[in-house]
Amino acid sequence: MSRIPVAQPVLGGNERKYVLDCIDTNWISSNGKYIGMFESTFAAFCGVKHAVAINNGTTALHLALVCLDLQPGDEVIIPTVTYIATANAVRYCGATPVLVDVCPDTMNIDPAAIEAKITPRTRGIIPVHLYGHPAEMDAVNEIAARHKLWVLEDAAEAHGAEVGGRRVGSLGTCATFSFFGNKIVTTGEGGMITTDDDELAAKLRLFRGQGMDPKRRYWFPVVGYNYRMTNIAAAIGLAQMERVNEALAERAQIARWYDEALAPLAGKVVLPKEKSWAKQVVWMYNIFLADGGEAKRDSVMRQLDEMGIETRPVFYPMHVMPPYAESTSYPVADEWAQRGINLPTFQGLTREDVQRIADALASLLAA
Ligand SMILES: Cc1ncc(COP(=O)(O)O)c(C=O)c1O
Repeated sequence: MSRIPVAQPVLGGNERKYVLDCIDTNWISSNGKYIGMFESTFAAFCGVKHAVAINNGTTALHLALVCLDLQPGDEVIIPTVTYIATANAVRYCGATPVLVDVCPDTMNIDPAAIEAKITPRTRGIIPVHLYGHPAEMDAVNEIAARHKLWVLEDAAEAHGAEVGGRRVGSLGTCATFSFFGNKIVTTGEGGMITTDDDELAAKLRLFRGQGMDPKRRYWFPVVGYNYRMTNIAAAIGLAQMERVNEALAERAQIARWYDEALAPLAGKVVLPKEKSWAKQVVWMYNIFLADGGEAKRDSVMRQLDEMGIETRPVFYPMHVMPPYAESTSYPVADEWAQRGINLPTFQGLTREDVQRIADALASLLAA
């Protein structure tokens, strides 16, 4: 039986044509028409004024924090369950990521736990829209406004998700996205920062390009970075955006197939559920083994692998990672993350594949 990967890109539209155009016209660096076209298409998609293309999602986070003036000794609130890049970007600035527990079902930052972690050093909050389900942005923004903090959405995994009819990327001070090969929209490696703030956008562009004065070539008034995206990556991104609605619809269909195929396992697994106030997108279909499942999670994943089904564990919380280790307990993260499994989720996964995965899980959980 063929092996089912956990993720894979689909490059079935104009990707090839646009990349060949870059090569044929010699525009392969970070100059070229596809950068601006990708940026304006992405800004319109998110419903914001500005989108600034970056060379990956981690450098996008770092650049956003630099341009929000994050300084050594400052603190930034982040959920303990996230990909390591969220915490690392804060550390790159010499600041401290302050961890907050998450909600049990979405694994997103728990707004009720934020205020206890705010100190006079706190500068901002980074809610992460994990696996495609948006964080509770209304509550996060309300707390941030009360404490005069900025909000940086880490939307790396949630292109197109919505809260109250507005897309992620438009819900905070600014937002960052990733276009890594396994993401809903990919450029191989790539990132984007979105914002409605004109001044912040200009600063992001300045610092992205080594800090070169836009009015005086080779004059550098600040210490900037080379975090530019190539025209080739942007060409792929533009082609991906032409079919993004299709991608979102196909992923939603895969989630419906999983919901149906896994329904008989109720009681043994907890399935993902969209909150009433949210419109999620399906980056990774994420299940949790029922209470007590943490002891067998890794062996279930190993056996699925032996059956030709690749999976991923839900992210280990930051407070158990060596660089950010704490003795504090984060009860929801501690209990739920260990039971979570990301199932294969990509365009092209068939209903038969989903049934095969559900049958494999049923047989392992019956044993
Ligand atoms: C939540 C989150 N933040 C940041 C990143 C970093 O993005 P990149 O891998 O493009 O550097 C990722 C990537 O997987 C992510 O999932």
